[in-house]
Amino acid sequence: MNLSRASQQRLELLAQDSLKRVLLPCPLDQRGLDFSSNDYLCLSQRNDIVEAGHACAKKYGAGATGSRLLSGNLACFEALEAQVAEFKNAEAALVFSSGYQANATGLAALLDQNLWGGAEPLVFTDRLNHASLHHACQLAGVKQIRFRHNDMAHLAELLDKHTGKHADSTQPKIIVSETVFGMEGDLLPIEQLAELAQQHKAVVYLDEAHATGVWGPQGRGLGAIQHPAIDALKAMGHWVIMGTFSKAVGVSGAYIACTEIFKQYLVNRCTGFVYSTAPSPFVIGAVSKALSIIPELSHEREALHAAAQHLRTKAHELGFDTGLSNTHIVPLVVGSNTACLELKSHLQQADIRTSAVRPPTVPPKAARVRLALNTGHSPAVYEQLLKALASWKVTA
Ligand SMILES: Cc1ncc(COP(=O)(O)O)c(C=O)c1O
Repeated sequence: MNLSRASQQRLELLAQDSLKRVLLPCPLDQRGLDFSSNDYLCLSQRNDIVEAGHACAKKYGAGATGSRLLSGNLACFEALEAQVAEFKNAEAALVFSSGYQANATGLAALLDQNLWGGAEPLVFTDRLNHASLHHACQLAGVKQIRFRHNDMAHLAELLDKHTGKHADSTQPKIIVSETVFGMEGDLLPIEQLAELAQQHKAVVYLDEAHATGVWGPQGRGLGAIQHPAIDALKAMGHWVIMGTFSKAVGVSGAYIACTEIFKQYLVNRCTGFVYSTAPSPFVIGAVSKALSIIPELSHEREALHAAAQHLRTKAHELGFDTGLSNTHIVPLVVGSNTACLELKSHLQQADIRTSAVRPPTVPPKAARVRLALNTGHSPAVYEQLLKALASWKVTA
């Protein structure tokens, strides 16, 4: 069989299950009605941020010319890393070209047995973690011990079971979770997780992709909150925080905030850092400007959280299931893939753009239309959305 025929057959199978994806144009003039974008603070379109990107590119060039370990270690990277470390209240930070790369290769480096003197780490993961976190576990060849989504009692049970009397106490323990779940739109009970990690001396690796800019003190993420267990984990060097610049920060790329020594380990052993060209200086200039603005946007964050609460209330009145959402991400869980595609196209007819999220991104029979709220959505847009939702009838 040739490649084209094999691809055609695979696509036909996906289409049969309403799982085939297609690329659609995203006209800039329709951003106001777009609920599929992760530009939660609308920073991607701010002039001062775009200008800062230009200024940095003018100074350093359009490209970094190589890996940071070769020709690419421009001064702007080191300056941004110092800024990110301060923003996250961490000792150090390392910048990556994408969140996927940071997770897949940064977490894989943390899980590498060679780091732990040959001992295979016990890796406790939330069942609904992002694909890039799963990818890291596969890359490192570790078995995941999965706990039920956000269920800290289950995590405690699994930690006890695997670290009890008969367990090998030399095995490192690592807990991996998101802090705002991108598809559920709910918050990690971070204090409880930190307390469990402290009790078990586990390393915590948190993904703040959807929290950075929107949650935590001044939008610094949940990992930046003050709590004795978090302080204790930080003091042990067991608090590793990843986040992206691609969502609320409005640009692209990612960071891992950690201790200086773990950063130096990543510089040496993280494949996505060692074997990849550093990000464009444009990105670095724009991100730096965005990070300097984010702490000031408290009113915008409050308005966003209030809008989400209002939308949930109204959606419930209309009979919609918003699942576990308690953030600016509000899923409308409809179950079947066909109902999901129908609701998305019904909203599209009212000019409202949304994302149809289907398995394997979410569990089977939990397909949903994902509404990602941003600070540019006006009251009139919410009215338009609710009117369209009110007129939807399930036919699937
Ligand atoms: C939780 C989570 N982590 C990581 C990523 C990857 O980030 P990026 O889009 O910057 O590659 C995403 C993006 O979809 C995400 O939702």
